[in-house]
Amino acid sequence: MIEVNKLTFTYAKNALPVIKELSAIFNRGEITAVTGKNGCGKTTLSKLMTGILHPDCGSVFIDGEDISGMNLFAIGQRIGYIWQNPNRQLFCPTVAEEIAFGLRNKGLSDVEISSETDRYLQMFRLAAKKSAHPLLLSLGEKQRLALAAVLSLGAPYLLLDEPTGGLDVRCRRLLGVELQQLAERQNCGVIVISHEDDFIRRFCARKVVM
Ligand SMILES: Nc1ncnc2c1ncn2[C@@H]1O[C@H](COP(=O)(O)OP(=O)(O)OP(=O)(O)O)[C@@H](O)[C@H]1O
Ligand SMILES: [Mg+2]
Repeated sequence: MIEVNKLTFTYAKNALPVIKELSAIFNRGEITAVTGKNGCGKTTLSKLMTGILHPDCGSVFIDGEDISGMNLFAIGQRIGYIWQNPNRQLFCPTVAEEIAFGLRNKGLSDVEISSETDRYLQMFRLAAKKSAHPLLLSLGEKQRLALAAVLSLGAPYLLLDEPTGGLDVRCRRLLGVELQQLAERQNCGVIVISHEDDFIRRFCARKVVM
């Protein structure tokens, strides 16, 4: 379980807090939506939950452990985070390499890395682009690649900031099904920041409204 406990966060000194005494719980084994109008602080919350920003007060616990005592690498192994802007996420020279990178860090054999990479390339319709430079892809393709790269890591929690924006209906459904399977079969705790009522109704067990 991830527990957000009375978080308060302000960007600039003397400004009003963007997030004020927010508490919420995110369970493993289900998809939880985080919704709220533009600018209400959803992305800020995701950065607080992944240790990129530090709260003024309050805490975030992952499976009972306060993240203020963990470094970014340790938090990243527990929560796979997909940024709202995929350009910030992609750094490898090819699409295939972007997916293989995390698999290599997981200690898989070359054969396993190759077959898992192909599976994710197929799933996210990127097979034809496997040798392309990630930053030359379209926005939708970049989003799919960022998803594939993070999903393949197998962290116990996943946090996705508006992942469906650049996806067509088919990819959206594939993503929903994949996330549902991760939650149900691998007991993954999935948190999806989203405005999309259809996606939320269909795939999310709970909803946190900010
Ligand atoms: N780096 C920053 N410095 C100062 N203010 C910021 C910064 N980033 C965001 N803000 C402000 O904090 C508030 C919350 O922003 P945030 O991006 O968390 O909202 P959001 O709910 O994710 O919005 P959206 O739905 O547009 O993605 C907004 O008023 C925004 O202008
Ligand atoms: Mg946002």
